[in-house]
Amino acid sequence: MQLSLAVLPGDGIGPDVTAEAVKVLEAVGSRFGHDFRLDYGLVGGVAIDKTGEALTGDTLRMCRSAQAVLLGAVGDPKWDSNPGARVRPEDGLLALRKGLGLFANLRPVRVFPVLVDSTNLKPEVIRGADFIFVRELTGGLYFGRPKRQWRTSRGRRATDSMNYSEQEIERIVRVGFELALRRDKRLVSVDKANVLESSRLWRQVAMEVAGDYPDVELEHMLVDACSMRIIQNPTYFDVVVTENTFGDILTDEASMLAGSMGMLASASLAGVPQEGVSIFGMYEPIHGSAPRRAGLDMANPIAIILSVAMMLRYSFSLAREAQVLESAVDEVLEEGYRTYDIMAEGKVKVGTGRMGDLIAGKVAG
Ligand code: IPM
Ligand code: MG
Repeated sequence: MQLSLAVLPGDGIGPDVTAEAVKVLEAVGSRFGHDFRLDYGLVGGVAIDKTGEALTGDTLRMCRSAQAVLLGAVGDPKWDSNPGARVRPEDGLLALRKGLGLFANLRPVRVFPVLVDSTNLKPEVIRGADFIFVRELTGGLYFGRPKRQWRTSRGRRATDSMNYSEQEIERIVRVGFELALRRDKRLVSVDKANVLESSRLWRQVAMEVAGDYPDVELEHMLVDACSMRIIQNPTYFDVVVTENTFGDILTDEASMLAGSMGMLASASLAGVPQEGVSIFGMYEPIHGSAPRRAGLDMANPIAIILSVAMMLRYSFSLAREAQVLESAVDEVLEEGYRTYDIMAEGKVKVGTGRMGDLIAGKVAG
């Protein structure tokens, strides 16, 4: 079977980890007889350097004609020191999410049993934590208008807007309920309804959608309380649905349960994932471009490799292949191999390429 994907390595460690994801994907292809056709494109800082735009029409068209998109990372400190820049690498990622209609960002958080002692948190608190965030990805503060900076006689001002329509809320909350149905049937909807009007609408719509899912228990939680609960009692959660900015912040926090940002995968989808139904999506690690580590063969490729597993499952309906890949990651960790970010005493430190080889080797069987 021929399967097509667009590959956008991006900036910093993006290309380093993407190369390993492709290596592992090819191992899946040769073991199971799939032919993956890869088309490479530019996004982020590398695209700005080359074309002046963070996302070109060509790259967007290439992504649209593929069955899935694999993305490394975007961002470069070159632009962080210039808040006045006309275009930024992150614009490319946001334009991709919006342009491809990827409103549902799934971010599983899992404490790997073998890494339970490698985090800054107490093993007895985090052991067994296994939940999934559903982050709204094409609305809220990131995209709301007005969004601008201007001068007044009393100095400069700036504004961002947190806007949501009931349709946008409904479709993302539905993804949360659908996932909860297939898990422990508990959905936490996170908002700031004690202060924000957009959150009050969010809460109302969540309650209305709940009527269609009598088997799922819906709980509303304020975002500040949620951030506390994530480190206080992470096993409490099953499925968490929330708006764009809250989801961005909470998932970085939650990644610490897994020991490193380098462990967490994500899928950005244009609809509800369903077993046996292939759905277009973009897959990327939740970590950033870590420019200081770029090109040093240091970065942990596990997050993007686990993102490939999500891609196999959701965009190619290859659940068995996804399972084999996830088990390969588990086995390599169990054998004691670690990249620098999850290194612990008595373990074997490896670089990006070796970690990719080890996982690809397990996949090959
Ligand atoms: C993420 C990242 C992005 C976001 C950045 C790079 C724009 O932090 O995917 O979580 O804020 O969504
Ligand atoms: Mg983030």
